Amino acid sequence: MHPNNQKTKIFLDSGDPAETKQALSVLGFLDGQTTNPSLIAKNPQTAGRKFLKEELLDFYRGVVKEVSSLIPEGSVSIEVYADNSTSAEEMLKQAREFNAWIPNFHIKYPTTTQGLKAAEISIKEGLRVNMTLVFSQAQAAAVYAATKGAKKGDVFISPFVGRLDDRGENGMDLIKNILKMFEQGDGHVEVLSASIRSLEHVIKTFELGADIITAPLKVLKEWKTSNKQTAVSNKLKPIPYQKIDLNRPWQEYDIQHELTDKGLEKFASDWNALIV
Ligand code: G3P
Repeated sequence: MHPNNQKTKIFLDSGDPAETKQALSVLGFLDGQTTNPSLIAKNPQTAGRKFLKEELLDFYRGVVKEVSSLIPEGSVSIEVYADNSTSAEEMLKQAREFNAWIPNFHIKYPTTTQGLKAAEISIKEGLRVNMTLVFSQAQAAAVYAATKGAKKGDVFISPFVGRLDDRGENGMDLIKNILKMFEQGDGHVEVLSASIRSLEHVIKTFELGADIITAPLKVLKEWKTSNKQTAVSNKLKPIPYQKIDLNRPWQEYDIQHELTDKGLEKFASDWNALIV
């Protein structure tokens, strides 16, 4: 039984082990942590610093190792560097290196054609993946199809709720729609509610019964001290459910989404800004 009687596992969204320690002391547990290049750039120890490429990777490895030692039973997501010209082979090379960093990792790949190719191979190699920058049901269907055969727990999918809200669409609807679509599947993909900005997002994620949520420390603290049980409905534009067959080859789904492209650029530019 989960320490908080929740079906949904709780992850911290942060690139700073000091926050892992705080989250552990506030909550008393943590099921995992997600990192990404922008979160590493927000780590106070990178402030005002420039790194050589290798030094930056060493820094990332240090962060991840420390987080892993704090939550050895949890999952730690490590994101590959990818811009719009990075090939699947280049992503895989990074993922295989992460294998030497810590035992309890999920590799974050972008949900693009190259990222999906890398994920398909990673699963065959026995690695775990967390497919990020997900903004549509079609992308979720492609993740499902590309990772078929994986064990439950080996594949996470991260729909970015807050970034859809930012442009007036109800991001929580995407979580709801993906969960509904996955009811026709074999359950091998776990839905991880990401880009969480508020307590409302947390409560709604629990209501929907998503497998995992990752949230910033500030939001986790708010949740811990709040008695709120029910989410209020918002005024954002609903995202309609689409009927999508999960049994097609992944290459056949229309996975293009402008927020995925923008998100990829932002991750790459935040990372590159740290490099000399
Ligand atoms: O979990 C993904 C997250 O780090 C992105 O959050 O707030 O930049 O959209 P945000």
